[in-house]
Amino acid sequence: MDETVLLVGGGGREHAIARALADSTGTLYACAGNRNPGIAAVAKGFETLDTTNPSAVRSYAGDIEATLAVIGPETPLEAGVADALDEAGVYAFGPQQTDARIETDKAFQRAFMQEHDIPGCPDFETFRDMSAACRYIDQYDGDLAVKPVGLTGGKGVRVVGEQVTPQAAKAYIREADYERIVLEERLVGEEFTIQALVANGDVRVTPAVQDHKRAYEGDEGPNTGGMGSYSDAGLELPFMFEDEYMAAVDILRETVAALDGYKGVLYGQFMLTAEGIKVVEFNARFGDPEAMNTLPILTTDLLDVLVAAREGESLPQLSFDRQATVCKYAVPDGYPTEPESGTRIAIDEGDAGDATLFYASVDERQDGVYTTTSRSFAAVGIAGSIQEAEEVAAEALEATRGEGLRIRQDIGKPDLVQRRIDHTSELREDR
Ligand code: AMP
Ligand code: GLY
Repeated sequence: MDETVLLVGGGGREHAIARALADSTGTLYACAGNRNPGIAAVAKGFETLDTTNPSAVRSYAGDIEATLAVIGPETPLEAGVADALDEAGVYAFGPQQTDARIETDKAFQRAFMQEHDIPGCPDFETFRDMSAACRYIDQYDGDLAVKPVGLTGGKGVRVVGEQVTPQAAKAYIREADYERIVLEERLVGEEFTIQALVANGDVRVTPAVQDHKRAYEGDEGPNTGGMGSYSDAGLELPFMFEDEYMAAVDILRETVAALDGYKGVLYGQFMLTAEGIKVVEFNARFGDPEAMNTLPILTTDLLDVLVAAREGESLPQLSFDRQATVCKYAVPDGYPTEPESGTRIAIDEGDAGDATLFYASVDERQDGVYTTTSRSFAAVGIAGSIQEAEEVAAEALEATRGEGLRIRQDIGKPDLVQRRIDHTSELREDR
């Protein structure tokens, strides 16, 4: 049967999903709040709509007679878009609202880990009363991470001892006026992501990726949605051993078993610490930027995975090119605190050399492509080593970036990678 796939979302991650699906035999349609020119170029149809409105998405799925859907971002999952599509008979690769709480409700996420004895859960407490939260900070022996319970686009966390003083954390809690927060033990180590494709009880894992949340070189500045990421030619990253990668995979497997019936992507954000692998968070979708590292080297047909998921079959094993990848985002000047939006960008993809460009939060209007307040576009280099992949990505960005956009130069460079290796060697000595 010919499949008609609806892709929901218009960022860099979704451009990567669109490219992966464009290589398959199905027909692709997409919908998003912004018109992403990269997705529009490979899709048969592109509708601009509010992707957090389940009936709008369902109605478009009906118009195009979709047989499958892939939901890219977390906000439609939280809004129940997967539920609405499933109800309408369009299998959504993405969890329903209740299962998406593994990402959308951090209090639920921690309680779930505790209840099911899933390894790697830090010490935590949940608060509604912000004065009680402040007293907890005063009394706690050690540093804490302050996490709003709901979605914040990756920008809501404040880590005491790393980004803020206990005083500033308390001021943040009082001023931000969140309904609920989680206070949890600060994890110290190296972070990495493993994304798994999940359905029918199967968990198919992808290579580990390291994202860079901080806005500036040297991991300085405020948290962002992610400035760039790298993966190595194989499943592990240079700073981890195979048993550490496998310990993280086991956590994903145990989580999927406990969730019972989960479908879509389960994204584990892990910290390699002196005490072993800990869970920073779970997401219910591909990472952005991590999808841009993973999907371009996936040699298994993504559509085959989606169809097997829908049919209740065992998912195909995944194969990847044995290549390293480096992804770097060009973001508007001032991002994330005071981003300058509305800059017209003219990208000549012919200038990107061997790199692949992914459009993100840009909007294609009649007279050109404009930046929004979020990440604009990314370049991904794919090569035999991280160092070579970095050079490919960096050259492409030099040639295409233009005015008003900024990148993090250090991501994927040899000295940054070496610092990560040295860091985890030191941590292991403390074990
Ligand atoms: P999240 O919004 O959960 O992705 O958190 C954003 C970032 O905050 C993570 O990528 C970590 O760098 C940091 N973070 C979250 N929780 C902790 C923790 N318990 N200890 C240290 N850093 C954390
Ligand atoms: N790269 C972080 C995220 O997708 O949440």
